[in-house]
Amino acid sequence: MPLAKDYHSVMARSEEIMKKALGLDYSQFESGSIAFDYEKLMKAAGYDLQEVIAIQKETGVGSTPLLELRNITALARKYAQPGYGARILTKDEGANPSGSFKDRRASIAVAQAKKLGYEGVIAATSGNYGAAVASQAAMRGLKAIIVQECYDSKGLGQPEIIEKARKCEALGAEVIQLTVGPELFYEHLSLMEDTGYFNASLYSPFGMAGVETLGYEIGREVLERYGKKPTMAVCTYAGGGMVTGTARGLAKCGCKNTQIIGASIDLTGLHMASDSQFNMKSCTTGHTGFGIPHAMNPDSGDIPRSAARPLRYMDRYVTTTQGEVMYMTEMLAILEGIERGPAGNTALACAFSLAQTLPEDEIIVVTETEYTGAGKHIQPQLSFARENGIEIKFGDPSAEDVPGKNIILPDDLSMFRCKDADLDHMRKNMIKRAVLRANGSKPTQEDLRFLAADTNTDVEYVKNVLMEAGLM
Ligand SMILES: Cc1ncc(COP(=O)(O)O)c(C=O)c1O
Repeated sequence: MPLAKDYHSVMARSEEIMKKALGLDYSQFESGSIAFDYEKLMKAAGYDLQEVIAIQKETGVGSTPLLELRNITALARKYAQPGYGARILTKDEGANPSGSFKDRRASIAVAQAKKLGYEGVIAATSGNYGAAVASQAAMRGLKAIIVQECYDSKGLGQPEIIEKARKCEALGAEVIQLTVGPELFYEHLSLMEDTGYFNASLYSPFGMAGVETLGYEIGREVLERYGKKPTMAVCTYAGGGMVTGTARGLAKCGCKNTQIIGASIDLTGLHMASDSQFNMKSCTTGHTGFGIPHAMNPDSGDIPRSAARPLRYMDRYVTTTQGEVMYMTEMLAILEGIERGPAGNTALACAFSLAQTLPEDEIIVVTETEYTGAGKHIQPQLSFARENGIEIKFGDPSAEDVPGKNIILPDDLSMFRCKDADLDHMRKNMIKRAVLRANGSKPTQEDLRFLAADTNTDVEYVKNVLMEAGLM
């Protein structure tokens, strides 16, 4: 008898579908309450760092250039106190086959699908990752389906999203284009069930193992070239894979003390799942609409437990604005001669002001660039924003930026000022939510230790949060 395909029936089979589609049984990591064995999950990917490097080499992923941004560094020094203004480097991840660091993630997921004998791979993603999966699948001779939220209910799509859909199709994937809403997860599950394809989830340990090479390459190359470790690695942050993989890779080459800085565009006030606000933003990744919910509830994705756990690894979370990122995009092209897309320039906009807080002899690494073109360009972005009633002007982004209402291009370079988001608030929120989700059962000692590790705090901190909230 055919299986019922209504929403509730498919959702009810989600555990079974996910298990089959990933070839991984998550129950082996669970403790039965809040805690799960994170390191065991990471080991379950089954490839050590050298094997990951070898797999990536087969499809031309990784070993991207590490560029020193000499002119932008010189400019940052002009705005810093004497003796300040760290050297700014960027890892040119746009040089990966599909044009972003997401190739690192997709390379291991697709290699695993091939090894296990799946006919194809499937991923739910807002974009760059889809192109990466499509590209890796093409190289390994697998089929690819990408499920993407592209449009509002009027069928209107943000130019960057449309560009990302185009790129996935150009690389041979079938793209299931959806309007914004809750059907993304349902469609993804239902397609995995119907096709029997591998779930190339962004959040699996396979994907995360792939990102570790990024941190490893950065740490090793900075040490070799400059004889010191980077002080900061600034990672554009949405779902936390970049932050997690980079931090783990840096630790694997002895750079445990490099500060991991998550960087997002502040879109406070815009609701990501809102049909009317979907097209009011000029960026489609690396913003707080993804970053804040993922920090507080990393396990809300398309697999039972996410391998990306941002609060474990982020030392600081800083935000910038759409106008600063657009300005930085042009600055990078004009001063450094490389034209790259908005995601990497989010971290770069933050790095420009963070560098000014560090002495000149220190090193700050922006962990990526991404490809640009078509709808990712500033011009279509600004035209689309204007058509949607967004005011565009020069001014002071820190004082005037209102997401969904305006885009403020900085009047002066001293106006690049990233802001620290309240990580402590996110840690507390995450701890309380985890306990509330456990339906009133008292946290065990193992749970307390897990929550301390998951928030990069200690058991005392976790206990205090729970006692203050009356949850212990
Ligand atoms: C090019 C690029 N950089 C950075 C990010 C953010 O990475 P993560 O979602 O792992 O935090 C994304 C994710 O969507 C991306 O496509």
